[in-house]
Amino acid sequence: MILVTGGAGFIGSNFILDWLAHSEEPVINLDKLTYAGNLENLNSLKGNPRHIFVRGDIADSELVAQLLSEHRPRAILNFAAESHVDRSIHGPEAFIQTNIVGTYRLLETARAFYKDLDERAASCFRFLHVSTDEVYGSLSSGASPFTEEHKYEPNSPYSATKAASDHLVRAYYHTYGLPVLTTNCSNNYGPYHFPEKLIPLCIHNALAGRPLPIYGDGLQIRDWLYVRDHCSAIRRVLEAGKVGETYNVGGWNEMANISVVQSVCEILDELKPKENGSSYAAQITFVTDRPGHDRRYAIDAEKISTELGWQPKETFETGIRKTVQWYLDNPSWVANVTSGAYQSWVGQHYGSGLNTTARRTSPHVDT
Ligand code: NAD
Ligand code: DAU
Repeated sequence: MILVTGGAGFIGSNFILDWLAHSEEPVINLDKLTYAGNLENLNSLKGNPRHIFVRGDIADSELVAQLLSEHRPRAILNFAAESHVDRSIHGPEAFIQTNIVGTYRLLETARAFYKDLDERAASCFRFLHVSTDEVYGSLSSGASPFTEEHKYEPNSPYSATKAASDHLVRAYYHTYGLPVLTTNCSNNYGPYHFPEKLIPLCIHNALAGRPLPIYGDGLQIRDWLYVRDHCSAIRRVLEAGKVGETYNVGGWNEMANISVVQSVCEILDELKPKENGSSYAAQITFVTDRPGHDRRYAIDAEKISTELGWQPKETFETGIRKTVQWYLDNPSWVANVTSGAYQSWVGQHYGSGLNTTARRTSPHVDT
């Protein structure tokens, strides 16, 4: 079996659903269930003996050691993290605890387990660390996309803690011989995405008649990848990745934020037109920029493509349509996650409407 950490979050839950659809191999899912962890994502696995959920912290070495010794997984896949850049700006502490201290403790516990494995089990064992393109920092407009050799220049507390965790993973390979693999992926989108992130926030706000907040001029560029394509990349790296290597994962799909939000609005206009006939794009509102906002990320996914034969299946057009449709089909999931802790975060970050000066009130694109 495999041990997945953070498997109740956005990517982790998609990964577990995807894994169990492709493999007979059981999964132990260790998740602390922070505000971002949601067992409802895994409702379809109720009663499935191949999914074992354990609530706990990756930094709890005693618990992790006990799980390893009881279940003897052949791999640990570390998705657990604090993942939202804006939250890291408001309060970096939790990011340092989970992303740095948590990853360190998980590595240390994995190392103790690995060292006692017999030769055959040791040769199969892998520690796969799921990381982000944000560790590379911001690209200027004409610069080539990030390769695996790009230097690390993290700019937010979130990316700094992810960079630290990547370095620890690397060090455990070079120093202790722990068989590690690291993936650095671009922005994911798809089902079960928590509505604090741009795409699900805009879908949710659009349907609720609220402003769609665009930071700064909205021309910041991200590479967008459908979450199930990220899951297939991770499966492939686990299966065939070379120990000690890192693999960049992306969709070859750079888009300005404003264009992403306009695409969402166009699909909503088609699938759920507003009664008054206006476009959801009329709700777009430009607000004060994120501090230290990285201007552009772009991933060169050549290595994983040529060495491991991985390619994304979805284009942005097909993936974003599936995503919008999923949110329209699952209003109760959205209603459940937008209560409680999430509501207080929205109040703190955006204020009663938006926390910021609305700098423009109509969409604006310079291409
Ligand atoms: P998420 O915030 O949706 O989920 C994180 C999960 O980790 C939650 O279920 C949470 O309860 C759990 N968790 C947090 N702290 C924990 C701890 N100390 N112990 C155990 N569980 C804990 O995040 P996500 O978007 O699914 O991201 C998953 C991973 O992928 C992260 O490592 C993130 O850095 C990375 N990543 C995300 C993206 C993206 O676009 N979302 C892109 C590239 C890489
Ligand atoms: O690049 C991979 C990263 O993508 C992951 O490592 C992170 O875990 C994940 O959260 C995501 O980070 P971003 O900061 O890029 O995602 P977010 O959805 O928060 O923002 C996407 C872009 O949209 C970014 O340029 C900021 C902007 N934005 C975001 C929000 C929430 C807005 O303009 N308005 C908003 O309200």
